[in-house]
Amino acid sequence: MTVRQTPPFSVEDTALVTASFRSSFPEISHDPLSRHLVTPAAAEIHADVIRHINADEPLAHAVRNRFFLDQLRDFFRQYPDGVFINLGAGFSMYPYLLDSEAFPLASFIEVDTPAQLKHKSRTIAKLQKIQGHELIPQRDVMYVSCDLCCEEDLSALASELHAVVEDRATFVLLEGVLYFLSVQSLDKLFHFLSEVQVTARAPEKMHLLGCVAYAPEIQHQESFRLLSTYIDKNFQAGEHARTSESGERAFLPRTFFENLMGYRLTAATSTLGCVEHYGVHEHLVNRERLLEEQFYLLQRR
Ligand SMILES: C[S@@+](CC[C@H](N)C(=O)[O-])C[C@H]1O[C@@H](n2cnc3c(N)ncnc32)[C@H](O)[C@@H]1O
Repeated sequence: MTVRQTPPFSVEDTALVTASFRSSFPEISHDPLSRHLVTPAAAEIHADVIRHINADEPLAHAVRNRFFLDQLRDFFRQYPDGVFINLGAGFSMYPYLLDSEAFPLASFIEVDTPAQLKHKSRTIAKLQKIQGHELIPQRDVMYVSCDLCCEEDLSALASELHAVVEDRATFVLLEGVLYFLSVQSLDKLFHFLSEVQVTARAPEKMHLLGCVAYAPEIQHQESFRLLSTYIDKNFQAGEHARTSESGERAFLPRTFFENLMGYRLTAATSTLGCVEHYGVHEHLVNRERLLEEQFYLLQRR
């Protein structure tokens, strides 16, 4: 299994591969935009993964996007002036998938490495210039660069977020990023989140936290071992995410979320749970090799 472009790719490139996976099933992901983001390198890695590791990664990413898009739409119906904070946002397209006329007061904040944010803002601006705003609508998205493993970066991010959040409801998402963070950095990250999502300022407002994680058992699965070897061989942590390189990867059992200080676990599902929920089993290629991710929804106490 070889990638013909020149590895190592940066950790930011994983976001393009994720977009490429989503683009295979726009009718399931409800993301018709990601197909415009696919680069030749991402398409090549995508092909490599489905050929040699797990043919169901595109479906898995499609149902994941659909699940969180549905949660987000419900959140904004309840709190039209809510703030969506996507940590490790990559090339996910949520702000562009929601109807801005329905939610004109919503705020979108995307957090990632400087390289990723620069690449995304340029790509979106370029597509909007070429295609007009009918394809990718105009949205006011605030980009904030931050290494999620770095304490000083998190403090700076907290100040930026407080200025926007004030007494509004929030939805924070950690989708497809926890795996890239060291387990040693998670205490600080979740403590930072509990300080951003403060209920005391407006007790009637809700603060939600959506997380995607691999359970520890997945490490025994052959397709997962292939995937992690592939990632370690072909991708390296980006310039700003150097701290991700050190330390153990985060595999988190359900009890981690059940016991997360300051939060209450309100819902949990998984890749297969969503495949069932959205009735898309006919697209499953090989259930045994599927890399099941766990999806959690928590509410700040
Ligand atoms: C697999 S992509 C997922 C992107 C997006 N959340 C999605 O689901 O489509 C992982 C993203 O996490 C970002 N990332 C990885 N380590 C990071 C770190 N230490 N700080 C900030 N972002 C990081 C990468 O740049 C990349 O955009």
